[in-house]
Amino acid sequence: MEHNGKYTCWNCPAIDLAGKVDFRACGQSGKQFEKKTDASGETQILAECKRRPEIGLFDPMSISFDECPEWIKGPCGYQLRNMRVMILGIDGYLGWTLALWLGGMGYRVSGVDNYNRREWVKERGAQTIVPISRMNDRLAAAKELLGIDIEFRQIDIFEQRQRLREFIEEVRPEAVVHYAECPSAPYSMIDAEHAIAVQKNNVLGTLGLLFTMKDLVPESSLIKLGTMGEYGTPLTGRPLFEGMFPADAELHWDNRQWSLGGELIPRDPHSFYHVSKVQDTFNCYEACKYWWLRSFDIMQGVIFGVHTDQVARDNRLRTRLDIDECFGTVINRFVAQAVTGIPLTLYGQGKQIRGYIALRDAMQCMTRLINAPPEPGQYAAVNQISGIYSVRHLACKVAQIGQKNFGLPIQIQRVENPRVEADEHPFEVLYEKLPKQFGFETKVDLDEEIARMFELFLTDEVRARIEQRKHAIIPRTWWSGIKRQVEQLELLNLEAEIRDDEQLYTINE
Ligand SMILES: NC(=O)c1ccc[n+]([C@@H]2O[C@H](COP(=O)([O-])OP(=O)(O)OC[C@H]3O[C@@H](n4cnc5c(N)ncnc54)[C@H](O)[C@@H]3O)[C@@H](O)[C@H]2O)c1
Repeated sequence: MEHNGKYTCWNCPAIDLAGKVDFRACGQSGKQFEKKTDASGETQILAECKRRPEIGLFDPMSISFDECPEWIKGPCGYQLRNMRVMILGIDGYLGWTLALWLGGMGYRVSGVDNYNRREWVKERGAQTIVPISRMNDRLAAAKELLGIDIEFRQIDIFEQRQRLREFIEEVRPEAVVHYAECPSAPYSMIDAEHAIAVQKNNVLGTLGLLFTMKDLVPESSLIKLGTMGEYGTPLTGRPLFEGMFPADAELHWDNRQWSLGGELIPRDPHSFYHVSKVQDTFNCYEACKYWWLRSFDIMQGVIFGVHTDQVARDNRLRTRLDIDECFGTVINRFVAQAVTGIPLTLYGQGKQIRGYIALRDAMQCMTRLINAPPEPGQYAAVNQISGIYSVRHLACKVAQIGQKNFGLPIQIQRVENPRVEADEHPFEVLYEKLPKQFGFETKVDLDEEIARMFELFLTDEVRARIEQRKHAIIPRTWWSGIKRQVEQLELLNLEAEIRDDEQLYTINE
């Protein structure tokens, strides 16, 4: 059974709800209303289908996706035929990859970007080590090589809200994937200007989008990118549930007890960037409550890798990959450090534990969620990871693969931790919705993806680009405001480290 086979028109963005729909409740399920009828015995909630107007008014819970001819079977469940998906932030690492991925599966893709990311990276004296084409060339290559037509507009979603409105009105997306934010914790900690710029861009861009969706496409699902970093790493070891406490969670205090079920779990962000994501969470949650919007808030783990079949097809189709202190993510940075002879940098003890997911697996998750829109008014957080590792474990993995498969002399160092964070802590996270509810299966093996990155990074072109910008790798941005490069604390004995790691640090593979 496909994960969304029994979903009904109640979830479908092609529906126009009519009749006696008079409730607004975040997270409420249509099932609770299914049986309600008025005095004349008619169902209270009625709907019209924008794609099949000929069927007139009907009960939206009476037709399931597997019965509707507009929903066709695809590799990630039933998918709405030619579904219109708008990707905000389409020029980015994930946005461009998703555009080609969805385009290849028959979705009608449109997108918006203002090239902020290209500018931010340039400002830090860095560059994407995988060279990427200009947008016009990307679009032409997508058309020429993959037959994918992407409707693109250069729009700043915060500064040019009217233009975004016009574009949304023109396209009438049935799903909006919102990647268009600044994704960097260190960048938000540089100084007041950067912190303000990040929060303004992220929080106000999203807030404006919510109003625009309410006015123009309230039935479309919003797939909004948050981050696992919103939760922090509670030192008590309290599990990181998926956005909300489970039904049977209780608070005991002062000989009294309360149910916590359904309440948002506490957030403990650890940078001004993460704070912007927490603010987004509350804004999305409220918008679903006030206006009956529907949203997935993806608490995404750290992404690694650079491969999907589409981006690997041709140089003009590649997606960006950054390795500098602000915009590089840890596994990608370790491989680049290994290639350029910089000992892999552990911050402090290097025992921070985080959730991770490969680029290609993240694309599968996004597709499955696009295909299973939340119910009207429903806000649902989803923890999007496929494994949990300590940073030390990842350094050992990269070192082992680099040495064994590629003959590189790799070292691991501990450096001062420029962040304010626990560098050794318990970590328990639930990530059950994607596999259990949405049918996600991890396809990418961590070791294989690391090896694939080594192969790419060791090509003459990419290796030269890493060398050109290696000065941007070692952190200089301290949460405390200090302005200097971090210093080495210790060079680790690699053999001993790998031995210990094998015994200790395989948390969840
Ligand atoms: N990459 C990761 O490991 C990771 C992990 C967790 C969450 N996320 C989140 O996923 C999203 C995408 O991440 P990414 O790695 O692809 O980042 P990215 O910077 O490569 O992509 C974001 C894109 O949005 C664009 N953008 C930013 N502000 C904009 C604005 N105001 N108007 C129009 N376009 C704008 C940027 O130019 C960029 O192309 C971000 O929201 C990020 O916070 C990423």
